[in-house]
Amino acid sequence: MNNILVVYYSLFKSTENLALEIAAQTGGKLRELIPDPNYSFNYNTAAKEVRNQISKGFCPKLRSGNETIVDYQTIFIGSPNWFKTFAPPVRSFLRQHDFTRKTIIPFCTHGGGGFGQIENDFVKECPKSLFLPGIAVNGTVKSEEVTSWLRQLAMKGLRL
Ligand SMILES: Cc1cc2nc3c(=O)[nH]c(=O)nc-3n(C[C@H](O)[C@H](O)[C@H](O)COP(=O)(O)O)c2cc1C
Repeated sequence: MNNILVVYYSLFKSTENLALEIAAQTGGKLRELIPDPNYSFNYNTAAKEVRNQISKGFCPKLRSGNETIVDYQTIFIGSPNWFKTFAPPVRSFLRQHDFTRKTIIPFCTHGGGGFGQIENDFVKECPKSLFLPGIAVNGTVKSEEVTSWLRQLAMKGLRL
């Protein structure tokens, strides 16, 4: 096993599909964040709850995904773009671990807004980490897209 972790939150599976592709191509260990309780699959209900949580900086309890990260040096972290930032379970994960000197590579799926503020918000939460350029996918990912992005990361020093 290499020292790469691919951790993600996903409600409707788009981000999960991207995470699966990244894990397959990097050989990284896949880990899903599941909050307790999870959000509603009804958009309006979820949107109301998410807006409220984001405005308060609320960190939901994680039912799954909160195991230690000490064995990993490079951590891909993925989320849907929710109101321009990452989903609250990702904030819970970031707050509960020490990312000092670890390399973080963000990824997201979105409905047209790209990363929004997600990359900035990662830097704010993890000021002592190194960052490499992430990938933002609208809808379904193409595996070649991930391949060429990983090639660029390799040129910037990522070792797979
Ligand atoms: C509550 C909520 C808020 C969203 N806000 C945004 C947004 O601000 N910008 C955007 O481009 N997409 C937004 N979307 C669309 C999602 O980012 C997009 O559908 C994403 O691929 C869903 O990922 P998932 O399938 O892993 O849950 C939002 C979706 C939801 C449910």
